[in-house]
Amino acid sequence: MKKDSLIIFDTTLRDGEQSPGASMTKDEKIRVARQLERMRVDVIEAGFAAASPGDFDAINSIAQVVRESTVCSLARANENDIRRAGEAITPAPRKRVHTFIATSPIHMEKKLRMTPDQVVEQAVKAIGWARQYTDDVEFSAEDAGRSDIDFLCRVFEAVIKAGATTLNVPDTVGYTLPSQYGDIIRQLIERVPGSDKVIWSVHCHNDLGLAVANSLSAVMSGARQVECTVNGLGERAGNASLEEVVMAVRTRADIFPVETRIDATQIVPASKLISQITGYPVQPNKAIVGANAFAHESGIHQDGVLKHRETYEIMRAEDVGWTQNKLVLGKHSGRNAFKSRLAELGVVLDSEEALNSAFARFKELADKKHEIFDEDLQALLSDEAVTPETEHYKLTYSQVTSETGETPLARLTLSVGGEEKQGESTGSGPVDATFKAIESVLNSGSELLLYSVNNITSGTDAQGDVTVRLSKGGRVVNGSGADTDIVIASVKAYLNALNRLHNEPAKLNPQEGV
Ligand code: KIV
Ligand code: ZN
Repeated sequence: MKKDSLIIFDTTLRDGEQSPGASMTKDEKIRVARQLERMRVDVIEAGFAAASPGDFDAINSIAQVVRESTVCSLARANENDIRRAGEAITPAPRKRVHTFIATSPIHMEKKLRMTPDQVVEQAVKAIGWARQYTDDVEFSAEDAGRSDIDFLCRVFEAVIKAGATTLNVPDTVGYTLPSQYGDIIRQLIERVPGSDKVIWSVHCHNDLGLAVANSLSAVMSGARQVECTVNGLGERAGNASLEEVVMAVRTRADIFPVETRIDATQIVPASKLISQITGYPVQPNKAIVGANAFAHESGIHQDGVLKHRETYEIMRAEDVGWTQNKLVLGKHSGRNAFKSRLAELGVVLDSEEALNSAFARFKELADKKHEIFDEDLQALLSDEAVTPETEHYKLTYSQVTSETGETPLARLTLSVGGEEKQGESTGSGPVDATFKAIESVLNSGSELLLYSVNNITSGTDAQGDVTVRLSKGGRVVNGSGADTDIVIASVKAYLNALNRLHNEPAKLNPQEGV
């Protein structure tokens, strides 16, 4: 029997970016978008164009480079947001405007201060504005999970008549249960006139840990688009995880009447890239992409797997992109080998100068670490993205002593907007001493919310990948840094976070107002 297509709508660059501190630079977003396209995601929600000029520019750049996937921008249901979204996606061969307005009693009354009639009227107008830019228009009824079903039918009927082509039913606060959510989707498809002319979409948050279960239940009820994020990134507890949805549908093909176009071998590379860029580590026991997802610790399991792999494995690690760390380059690799490996990773450096500088850093790294893997190259590229314009704070020298029985001491010199400044401090360990030495110079007034270290590849010569999350004046940013020396990686991450606080303007959250 021919299966229906299940459209995979990835919102890592929009809802995922709304995770605290997960904001990405334009270059990082382009790298993520290229990887999503390589994974054959159907729709890439590239951002919320009205959030800031920087967000507009990033979406517009993605629309210029992505050729196969549809590029989408979110917009609240107002004329200005929709104009920004429509203009940002203009260069894309396939483009979508995604507009939304809240439909639950609590959101309409307390957030929007609008009556249900006004909400319907605004939604219809929004579709008209969006259709001026593209025929591919998605409408979301925010907080549909807590909305009245009769009212949802009314809004959806009105937006179908106005020209919406995809109707999304978000469980914005992750409140529904799988049977209930599946039932909502079934009722909407049965009751809304014209429902067979549109794609029904789901967007589930994970507050009760049910985002994937709810999404899959909705698919069984007729939803044909799932909105999801790589690693389940997203507001609060996150969104449905792309890798779990895709692999559930594929592994249980005996149950699901749908199939996706996703190239599953690109899942693990996408997960690693996004974790490294956002500074959100993946928990080891996370399904599909966690380091232990295919590790068989217990003796009984190992024995079973060796005798016959399917005794304990329902998927194959290599099918989702787990490979033994692949040696890609070494100390003797030349500039051409380096350039072509970057091209295979979908990275195009925009000038000879950028390539030369990245190659010089690669050689430095290859001197310290003999085997260079794709993950090392991705980390190197993140460092490379730091330019003199974005690097207000920079480390020029550091000396850290840590001896048995002695208090660790850090001395360092920083360049602050081009001016050299020195600082020193003791601390409970070398990293603590270094951060305090930085603060003795900068006195930044920021609060350290998180410090975490992960190894990029295996072995004691691996680079440490450090994430630092700082908050200041209500803004939260993540900084990351990689180096074979953990203290240097920590300094890079701390300064990266401070540079982000310094450079990135505050931006609008789409879920504030209309
Ligand atoms: O969770 C939500 O309701 C959203 C909408 C903007 C689609 O992210
Ligand atoms: Zn959401």
